[in-house]
Amino acid sequence: MKIFLDTGNVKDIEAMMPLGIVDGVTTNPSLMAKEGGDPRAIIKRICEVVQGPVSAEVVATAWEAMVAEGRDLAAIDAHVVVKVPFTRDGVRATKLLAGEGIRVNVTLIFSATQALIAAKVGAAYVSPFVGRLDDIASDGMGLVRQIVEIFEAHRFATEVLVASVRGPMHILEAARMGADVCTCPSAVVEACFKHPLTDIGLEKFLKDWEKAQAARS
Ligand code: G3P
Repeated sequence: MKIFLDTGNVKDIEAMMPLGIVDGVTTNPSLMAKEGGDPRAIIKRICEVVQGPVSAEVVATAWEAMVAEGRDLAAIDAHVVVKVPFTRDGVRATKLLAGEGIRVNVTLIFSATQALIAAKVGAAYVSPFVGRLDDIASDGMGLVRQIVEIFEAHRFATEVLVASVRGPMHILEAARMGADVCTCPSAVVEACFKHPLTDIGLEKFLKDWEKAQAARS
């Protein structure tokens, strides 16, 4: 399963890349607004750093404007994946952009039928928002299970990109279910590194080693 960082923060991405575990990045208008500055320049820089798929979202809502904005975003860098919200206009824009060979990530997916429609019009990715479903006492990961099952049964090439991730359990479940990608805030990736038994184990190894060295000298 690929791991993407869900952020528009270049410093966060630069800090994580040397670990070799980040395959791509997703952004959205809220994340980009948080960064300030020139969004096109930020997307370009992220593409240079990541050298993998980088989702940049349209803010237009009418299909003609979505297509124009999508083409414009795709022209920033070959790694850009155009992110389009799941609306009637978004679906129409996805069909057209995908027809031009532009990769589209259909976002704000909250039902399996939305994911099915997005796959039918050629989306490269669908983004079910698991955390936001969990927040309203719905089953976010249950939705991912349904989408994975449908895409496997019908051999869609569309990748399931688990979004709105809140913690390591979402990553674990996404991997177990066979999701293609999990996009995570960097704090969630950091959390996967922490285990008290690793810390205790390493401390003991080093103490034992030091004791043996001291006994030899
Ligand atoms: O990028 C889309 C998604 O991951 C947003 O997550 O935390 O705002 O629900 P969140």
